[in-house]
Amino acid sequence: MKKTLSIMVVICLAGSISAQQQTMDLVVNVKKQGAPIQSTMYGLFFEDINFGADGGLYAELIKNRSFEFPQSLMGWNSFGKVEVRSDGAPFERNPHYVRLSYSGHAHKHTGLENEGFRGIGLKKDETYRFSVWARSAANKAPQKIRVELVDAANNPIEGKELEITSGDWKKYEVILTAPKEESHATLRIFLTSEGPLDLEHISLFPTDTWKGRDNGLRKDLATALDELNPGLFRFPGGCIIEGTDLETRYDWKKSVGPVENRPLNENRWHYTFAHRLYPDYFQTYGMGFYELFLLSEDMGAEPLPVVNVGLACQYQNDGEHCHVPVGELGDYIQDALDLIEFANGATSTQWGKVRAEMGHPEPFNMKFIGIGNEQWGPEYPARLEKFIEAIRAKYPEIKIIGSSGPQAEGKDFEYLWPEMKRLKVDLVDEHYYRPPQWFLDNAARYDSYDRKGPKVFAGEYASHHKTRANNFESALTEASFMTGLERNADVVHMATYAPLLAHVDAWQWRPDLIWFDNLRMVRTPNYYVQKLYGHHAGTNVLPLTWNQAPLTGQQGLYGSAVIDTKKKEIIVKLSNTSQENRPIVVSLEGMKKKMQLRPEVETILLQGGQDEENRLDTPDAIVPVSSTTTLNGSKLSTDVKPYSFNLFVIGYTD
Ligand code: AHR
Repeated sequence: MKKTLSIMVVICLAGSISAQQQTMDLVVNVKKQGAPIQSTMYGLFFEDINFGADGGLYAELIKNRSFEFPQSLMGWNSFGKVEVRSDGAPFERNPHYVRLSYSGHAHKHTGLENEGFRGIGLKKDETYRFSVWARSAANKAPQKIRVELVDAANNPIEGKELEITSGDWKKYEVILTAPKEESHATLRIFLTSEGPLDLEHISLFPTDTWKGRDNGLRKDLATALDELNPGLFRFPGGCIIEGTDLETRYDWKKSVGPVENRPLNENRWHYTFAHRLYPDYFQTYGMGFYELFLLSEDMGAEPLPVVNVGLACQYQNDGEHCHVPVGELGDYIQDALDLIEFANGATSTQWGKVRAEMGHPEPFNMKFIGIGNEQWGPEYPARLEKFIEAIRAKYPEIKIIGSSGPQAEGKDFEYLWPEMKRLKVDLVDEHYYRPPQWFLDNAARYDSYDRKGPKVFAGEYASHHKTRANNFESALTEASFMTGLERNADVVHMATYAPLLAHVDAWQWRPDLIWFDNLRMVRTPNYYVQKLYGHHAGTNVLPLTWNQAPLTGQQGLYGSAVIDTKKKEIIVKLSNTSQENRPIVVSLEGMKKKMQLRPEVETILLQGGQDEENRLDTPDAIVPVSSTTTLNGSKLSTDVKPYSFNLFVIGYTD
């Protein structure tokens, strides 16, 4: 009995001591305003993967609109007398078109149906612009077609007649209104006169696109990107700039000019993973470099285009013979120089004129260019050097981004970093798709980086849980890791999560920041982490310490602090990766006399279960929740809830 009592006393004492110990005294030193946080710090990485562009952000609803897929009628169901032809097409880089002719009987039809990208999504009462290039191929014009929206049960729900009045190629348009919502509609077109007639570039766009543009973007997705408040927009991707072979690399010059004449390119994500084969995945370049620069501008983000360095994807190509010899890089280097001219050049220059003709005479003020993606070995610096010489000579103000390869450490990484220093690139792109624990273990990764060398661009990263889900664990570990990016803003100048978008029925890679189907989208918990950082980036780092050391996982807590001298706010970010509540006191020290703290503190909490996710049917399972706490003088006493990410926004006057 005596023994039991004393054990109980010991347990109680230990309990009360540990309860006392649990209050963590954190200090934010306001006097020691540190490095400026670059406006580019939190940005977006965009790639046409997972139907991210065609079938996703690009609002075109018709797949294979120019009949240029290798199987000319892929995506189309044809009936009656339909012929694919290539004589006398209106657009030289898209030579195919279809001819619809009389079926041979008045009661039989000739026409086409398009299945869209895993169906066509229609919203009730919304209007859709159908357009087509057409000509009458008969001696006598006019000819007629009927254009219909057909629901998943095969009922035509809207239809209009279109008269093709000329024997010359002309563009025709008609507006269709969807009387009901339909996630898997098809577009049907059939001949209602005798024919024949020719059709090319058959297109269907919602009229309600982002900013109302004709060749526009899907509004809900573009809005979600804009709401992240990105400071940087990297495009057109990673591996797709390299190409499975050089022939199929992303060629920006093919992605500008009239949309009807942009040629089709392969999309490597069609076949990169044999277990996720998408034979109908191609790039139309419909959302090309002009549209991507425009989107950067709309979002207030610095554009960061990336170009091929003369190396085809090194994962798929072994040996020098697959790449451009170092002495023959001329055209590739010219592409990079011309790109800068396209973005920034006067309208009197060759490429500045192209931009102006597309509707943007003002320059896009591009400041950064990426040369190469995930490259490795001596073949990369040998080529990069040539690009650097040419760009520095003509555009010394442009900042150049080199690569440290596909891994965040190891042989290639160790080789490339010194090479990037030798070549004096401005920033080095690092990629890490790693397990959640890696992100926690690497929260102090940049604390010891060389301050004198190139800056860091964390260009592709995501916490890959074993199920590859966008669960809260992945989001919380990213949030924790990002406190380390923020604390080291003197060396880390840019960071972009990857990939950005994924269609639920057509993805190749996960996790991804935003998931969507034909009508809906869902912001993942990872999205909210990015959003919280994007909106509360601050202007300068402030030291945040516990026991005089940065908070990099002690008691499961990770933290950083910034000051925003424009908004007059001090922002503390804390993540708690433990399952325990953590009482804390944050003391703001070193304030100038005239600095008055506002007593009301905005607190934003993102909390969820480890495996919890947001899904299309339950998009708001994990969302940030705001409340207020009161400051006690210059101290904030609060709890950091178990398994949560927290922001504390403290306003001040000075
Ligand atoms: O983000 C998906 C791919 O991951 C990128 O295309 C590539 O750069 C990386 O391997």
